[in-house]
Amino acid sequence: MKPEIGISDKHLHKNVHLLAILLADEMVLYIKTRKFHWNVSGESFMELHKLFEKQYSGLEITIDAIAERINQLGSKTIGTMKEFMDLTRLKENPDAYPNQKDMMKELLHDYDTVIIELRKDIDESSKNKDTGTTDFLTGILQNHKATAWILRRYLN
Ligand SMILES: [Fe+2]
Repeated sequence: MKPEIGISDKHLHKNVHLLAILLADEMVLYIKTRKFHWNVSGESFMELHKLFEKQYSGLEITIDAIAERINQLGSKTIGTMKEFMDLTRLKENPDAYPNQKDMMKELLHDYDTVIIELRKDIDESSKNKDTGTTDFLTGILQNHKATAWILRRYLN
């Protein structure tokens, strides 16, 4: 049943699209973080192994919340790797097994990319008259900024 929450169909559709792209980004970030959790080695192995686990566990909660928000706005949620890869703004690197520092650099770059895109999404959702989505995206932005800060601390 279509939600009657004071947002036009056109605006609902635009907000759902923006959330689907973000969902794809978060899925790529999630998979990448798991890959690094599995493959990290070297002096700080256990620390980074645990740090990456904490980060992908956080992403898991974010992913679920984005998908369910799409449902709340009256749409079906995409859920195949193909759809995620078609929509994401991030890049995967198959066959690459970076060292610890480069893993953190790559994750930081991806978080920064999502943060930049989120700022645009926040403006867009506000234009689409969906205060709830704007607020929701702002929460994700704050979380990602905190994670990016932690990664950045390792790098300088
Ligand atoms: Fe594990």
